[in-house]
Amino acid sequence: MPVDTILYNTKICIHGNIVDAGIAIDNGKIVKIAKKTNLPSASRKMDLKGNITLPGLIDSHVHLRDQQLAYKETFITGTSAAAAGGVTLVIDMPNNKPVTMDSLSLKERIKLAENQSLINVAFNSAFPNKLEEMPEIIKVGAIGFKVYLLNKIGGIEIDDDVSLLVAFREAAKSGVPVAVHAEDWMLIENQKKQLQTLGQNNTEAYVAAHSPEAEAKSIKRVIQLAKKSGVHVHFCHISSELGLNAVLLAKKACLPVTCEVTPHNLLLSSKHYKNSGFFALTDPPIRTQNHTSALWNALKTGLVDIIASDHAPHTLDEKQTNSVWEAKPGVPGLETTLPLLLTQVNKGRLSLAELVKVTSEEPARIFNLPNRGCLAEQNWADLVVVDLKREYKIDSASFFSKAKYSPFDGLHAKGRPIKTFVNGQLVMNEGKIVTKSGIGQVVLNAFDSN
Ligand code: NCD
Ligand code: ZN
Repeated sequence: MPVDTILYNTKICIHGNIVDAGIAIDNGKIVKIAKKTNLPSASRKMDLKGNITLPGLIDSHVHLRDQQLAYKETFITGTSAAAAGGVTLVIDMPNNKPVTMDSLSLKERIKLAENQSLINVAFNSAFPNKLEEMPEIIKVGAIGFKVYLLNKIGGIEIDDDVSLLVAFREAAKSGVPVAVHAEDWMLIENQKKQLQTLGQNNTEAYVAAHSPEAEAKSIKRVIQLAKKSGVHVHFCHISSELGLNAVLLAKKACLPVTCEVTPHNLLLSSKHYKNSGFFALTDPPIRTQNHTSALWNALKTGLVDIIASDHAPHTLDEKQTNSVWEAKPGVPGLETTLPLLLTQVNKGRLSLAELVKVTSEEPARIFNLPNRGCLAEQNWADLVVVDLKREYKIDSASFFSKAKYSPFDGLHAKGRPIKTFVNGQLVMNEGKIVTKSGIGQVVLNAFDSN
């Protein structure tokens, strides 16, 4: 019996080496990786013209919005953006309207995602009002929980360590990770009030309020809870040297913690506010070059586990306000992460093996997503074909995301995803979406039968 598809004349990255290979796909899965002559016969053959095939990106920090926030992004626009950017699975965040925080709200999002997504989607839930409901949320399929320590999202008061510990213990019992936005709200609020009293209202003031101290303080607090509960804590978007130091201490103590950085925190610094203004405003903020260098160093030494986009789309009106305190923080990242990182590969700052590790392998491992995250027989055929030589200018006007702005606008990128396959189906070809929405799978936690 011929298989569905073979991809030939491609290269793959194995143990740090780029080697010629072909890939046979059947029923959505990779069934063979071999030289062309050893591949089975197929109904469809695709010549990849010598370009490199990587595992599709697994982006562990994405705000797909939709529902009452559909004016910012929808499952269709967000997952189209993902496909265009070579991302084949995203983990959706719970700060939605309504907040994803119980089995009902989760089921609602799952239904929407099943009908509309072009790529695979997994879900984080906020903690529920009644913590006894956590097992039910996991049963419905959440792959983990997310907690915000800057503003209350979900059922637990930000300062309530007692409830947080109960929730962390419950997550530990179920074997699911807790992702944390670690910033100490009190420190930030106090600093913000002082700056506002002085009439300060620019990006410098915002960066000063969202200080490295606030990040590190919150991380340290969470680490104590991780220690007591044994839960796997994943720190989202670490942005400062102090924050990294706190994570390093926990890792040295062999606590089950991991962390991520964003491409904007890695590649931009305070000077970019001059051109991008509030379009570069995110939380935690882009900081000075010292922090950027520390993040790179931590990425290269393995202290940083994951690169995630923190795709956080807003409308132009929400960004173009007079006061920095009114502007919505967040940048769209799904369509820029891979081109930006491939550009770094071309510059020699990152190897392809490192890229694959932090954008596919580690996210799959940390968030328990079996049969995904690397090119291997029996794994889902979630793939991105990249042309490492393709040069182009980042232009947010062409984004599939509804958020048509980017602090990377105008940047000259070298290296671009040219084909994205999701569960064996070609979803993006040469920048065009070539499938109907709804072909993506909702990936439930590994306790499910999928
Ligand atoms: C995110 C958003 O807009 O949902 N904004 C941001 O600046 N990162 C929230 C978040 O991830 O903290
Ligand atoms: Zn966050």
